[in-house]
Amino acid sequence: MAAKAPTIPLLTPYKLGKFNLSHRVVLAPMARNRCYGYVPQPHAILYYSQRTSKGGLLITEATAVSDTSLGFTESPGIWTTEQVDAWKPIVDAVHAKGGIFFCQIVHIGRVSNQAPISSTDKPLTPQIPSNGADVPQFAPPRRLRSDEIPGIVNEFRLAARHAVAAGFDGVEIHGAHGFLID
Ligand SMILES: Cc1cc2nc3c(=O)[nH]c(=O)nc-3n(C[C@H](O)[C@H](O)[C@H](O)COP(=O)(O)O)c2cc1C
Repeated sequence: MAAKAPTIPLLTPYKLGKFNLSHRVVLAPMARNRCYGYVPQPHAILYYSQRTSKGGLLITEATAVSDTSLGFTESPGIWTTEQVDAWKPIVDAVHAKGGIFFCQIVHIGRVSNQAPISSTDKPLTPQIPSNGADVPQFAPPRRLRSDEIPGIVNEFRLAARHAVAAGFDGVEIHGAHGFLID
């Protein structure tokens, strides 16, 4: 009698809310720094659709919620109509292959070189990259006033609505990076 093939847990289905994922391998959000002018580019259609499988979950690269939330060079945004329209064919390509696509929305806080707002006015200390890349430069942050917080929350609310308008199946909110906690 033939031995039963072992089950590979990663390749078993998973129910994520209303989504029936066919396996548990997820495309992690990875900044690509190729969205010139903060607008997603057509080449992302190929990039994301190449990584799509039927019933698989993908999460976009970090996508800025507003022009004050930017930090990574040439990262995409989702606060203008132009950006939303640019995301649509990318989302369509993922859906055409049966993928489930979440947009990672982000406010970059102090990882910025343009007078960032933050919860603190304590500047970040750049880490020297071990791979010889340029040392990032961060501008001194300005501490956010309490009365400004609802505006930031609203930026996330609008970005989530824009993500829905672009056709995304959900959003993932970028968490605080471990290396930012000091
Ligand atoms: C080139 C690169 C870009 C990344 N960009 C993001 C990003 O945009 N958003 C995010 O939440 N994580 C980002 N990450 C982290 C990855 O999503 C992922 O969590 C991490 O690589 C997981 O594996 P690790 O913890 O073993 O590195 C990035 C990682 C790499 C290598």
